[in-house]
Amino acid sequence: MTARIVVTGKIPEAGLELLRTAGDVWAWDLAQQIPDDVRDAELADADVAVTLLTDRVDQTFLDAAPNLKLVANVAVGYNNIDVAACERRRVVVTNTPGVLTDATADLAMALILMSTRRLGEGERLIRSGTPWQWGMFMMLGVGLQHRQLGIIGMGGIGEALAQRARAFGMTVVYHNRRAVDADTEASLGARLVGLNELLDTSDVVSVNCPYGEATHHLIDAAALDRMKSSAFLVNTARGPIVDEAALVQALQTGEIAGAGLDVFEHEPAVHPGLIGLDNVVLVPHLGSATIETRSAMATLAARNVVEVLAGRQPVSPVSS
Ligand code: DGY
Repeated sequence: MTARIVVTGKIPEAGLELLRTAGDVWAWDLAQQIPDDVRDAELADADVAVTLLTDRVDQTFLDAAPNLKLVANVAVGYNNIDVAACERRRVVVTNTPGVLTDATADLAMALILMSTRRLGEGERLIRSGTPWQWGMFMMLGVGLQHRQLGIIGMGGIGEALAQRARAFGMTVVYHNRRAVDADTEASLGARLVGLNELLDTSDVVSVNCPYGEATHHLIDAAALDRMKSSAFLVNTARGPIVDEAALVQALQTGEIAGAGLDVFEHEPAVHPGLIGLDNVVLVPHLGSATIETRSAMATLAARNVVEVLAGRQPVSPVSS
């Protein structure tokens, strides 16, 4: 029997094309979120759900899809999925690691540069029509050379960011559950340290770890308090790793110098306290937002579907 594949959001054509080789594809093709009642009606006889990070795959989702065998998330992060509930129902879960590593590391580096060099502020100045003139002391930022980058979470994206930071003359320390292998450490010139040491000594702290219970509010008021008053925080991972209210306070009081955020605690809402602050750069979850990367993500998700429907092992499975 032909498998029914439900795609809950708009994805690039390359992914859809591959999915069509594996079964009957129904895809929501509007930019806005699929309404729950439409989604549930489509899931009723679905064998596969291809989901986005804006979908909550919880018990309600699973109850709407009694025949479901696979949830193929088109994202590397899968905190939107109750993996344990899927496992109880023997529903395989897959994600899209690797293909968005460079794009996300590029964006993290861009946020480091934007925040340390005050580029958002400069843009706003010009666009506001405020008269200005070159000045020796105008909008001075800080250089990155010989500054220390502290990377929290040394997976693929953390490593790719370390490479970029090295090219800008930064030294790198990292905090991770385990050390990366010695050759990688040597080539990145990176040193494993405890979280407190990383916070105490880094000039830029970049959050690159997955989100889960263990990392909820990892960067809270106490962590921000440990950071140097000259330091910057960058988050391209998941919003709730940072206590946004505490961050607003730290930015307002000068406890830290600035921040660059691609993700938000209550996304798509942004803490109103951040909006008026000049020392924070805000972008709308663009980490993987390149044409090539989004296409590669959709294709990898589709490859997982093809493999699982053919009775083979998925390419990139997730487990709880
Ligand atoms: C992911 O894949 O988890 C990213 O957040 C998407 O940009």
